[in-house]
Amino acid sequence: MSGTARLDRLLANLGYGSRNEIHQLVRFGAVVLDGVPAKDASTRIPLTDDLPARLYVDGEPLDPLSGVALMLHKPVGVTCSHKEAGALVYDLLPPRWRRRDPALSTVGRLDKETSGLLLLTDDGTLLHRIISPKKHVAKRYVATLARPLQGDEAARFASGTLMLEGETKPLAPAVMEMLSPTSARLSITEGRYHQVRRMFAAVGNHVEALHRDRIGALSLPADLGPGQYRQMSSTDVAAIFA
Ligand code: URA
Repeated sequence: MSGTARLDRLLANLGYGSRNEIHQLVRFGAVVLDGVPAKDASTRIPLTDDLPARLYVDGEPLDPLSGVALMLHKPVGVTCSHKEAGALVYDLLPPRWRRRDPALSTVGRLDKETSGLLLLTDDGTLLHRIISPKKHVAKRYVATLARPLQGDEAARFASGTLMLEGETKPLAPAVMEMLSPTSARLSITEGRYHQVRRMFAAVGNHVEALHRDRIGALSLPADLGPGQYRQMSSTDVAAIFA
């Protein structure tokens, strides 16, 4: 992050309120930079990486600036959508973050009934680098199956010829590893609709539970419980493409 921004615009884009509301916050002395209450909401301030540690709003450190990337442990039962009915992944984040501009979006989607590693970002370039099939970023899932594996699934998934019902283009090769008679790890580089569930359906099985534990070489951290999220470090982002 570099350059400068007007304080009112910066805070409005981070969802703290309308420009008018921000001017009010400043008048009340609620916006404090380097320990000193800001006097004028139209002041331009340098957008340095350490700004969230130096700028406080209502006694709380500033939210992350744009260019943010988060990892979330998506629980079962929440939907990756901005507007559907029921519990949404965005409900797991601070309410103000729904009003950020640029908006935070999920990097691809997990089904409502799928749990595990879900990334969110406001950085469109990063998002496309991760989901583009051309980049071959592997997404790894653990599937719990209704019926025992037959033994030929790994070869069929690896063949590059498996066709999903209703589609005309075969799937790219995928890597499957058996974990038990009724569970498997599967790494895919595409992101077709309900892909893992449909792949197991194509080989005569049924996925009862599905969990994503890795994107590229980035694993879901063991200390990130269902519903919890955290900001990604540059090392985390690099691991996606490692
Ligand atoms: N494949 C699925 O079937 N569901 C997901 O949520 C992700 C991949």
